[in-house]
Amino acid sequence: MAKVIGAITTSHVPAIGAAIARELREDPYWKPFFAGYPPAQRWLAARRPDVAVIFYNDHGLNFFLDKMPTFAIGAAPEYRNADEGWGIPTVPPVAGDQRLSWHLIERLVDEEFDVTTCQELLIDHACTMPLALLWPGRDAWPVRIVPICINTVQHPLPSAARCFKLGQAVGRAIRGYDEDLRVVVLGSGGLSHQLDGERAGFINRAFDLEFMQTLPGDPRWATRHSIPELVEHAGTQGIELLMWIAARAALEGEVRTVHSHYHIPISNTAAGLMVMETFSP
Ligand code: DHB
Ligand code: FE
Repeated sequence: MAKVIGAITTSHVPAIGAAIARELREDPYWKPFFAGYPPAQRWLAARRPDVAVIFYNDHGLNFFLDKMPTFAIGAAPEYRNADEGWGIPTVPPVAGDQRLSWHLIERLVDEEFDVTTCQELLIDHACTMPLALLWPGRDAWPVRIVPICINTVQHPLPSAARCFKLGQAVGRAIRGYDEDLRVVVLGSGGLSHQLDGERAGFINRAFDLEFMQTLPGDPRWATRHSIPELVEHAGTQGIELLMWIAARAALEGEVRTVHSHYHIPISNTAAGLMVMETFSP
């Protein structure tokens, strides 16, 4: 049977893609940010997942305001990255795992999540950036992916409690899959940031740190907040932390933090990273 080896949650700022392309990892601005990633890379290298199921939010590349699914899942053989207007180079296509995708879709619809199924899906920086950060310097990606997109663009957004339930259902579905796959669940987004309006530039360190501290052992702390409360605490784009909640929810039992890192700012964003895994106390 398939196994969920753990969850990794990370921010996904487009400027990171530009910094990687320009080889700025050692630059004084970037160094403290990139310094957070080697422990996560080593954890992955030791556990060698076959597939990454990625919770991310599309920013207007594949879905626009005219058609906005709340939850969408890729079921494509391959996912292409495309120019989104941020000026970052596109990355090579990523292989899908169609059989696992359709298994997840069937299990989720069975559990009353009415997901949009995407047999073609362009992936934006939110989906590709975790790959570039976690498996750097590769010619080919070492994992197949199943992208799961959660709407954070057009209100109404799904509640944190609903995203938690989605993540739990995804975890159950992976553990009920009949192939011996090793699956890592990724959550891409956040932490606090706001790119527009009167509070543009808003960052909330105290909230982020409490969110990161509670997520492994007490994820209900975050799910008790409404969407307007989360936007107030984390900013209009900080609401991307819904991806962290969904990824964490895919883990069962007692969960511990293997590694975490927090750095302010990257562009307008408080950049966070966590590696979590199930353990037996
Ligand atoms: C920034 C952050 C994001 O999450 C994003 O999707 C785009 C830009 C930023 O801080 O610049
Ligand atoms: Fe974003």
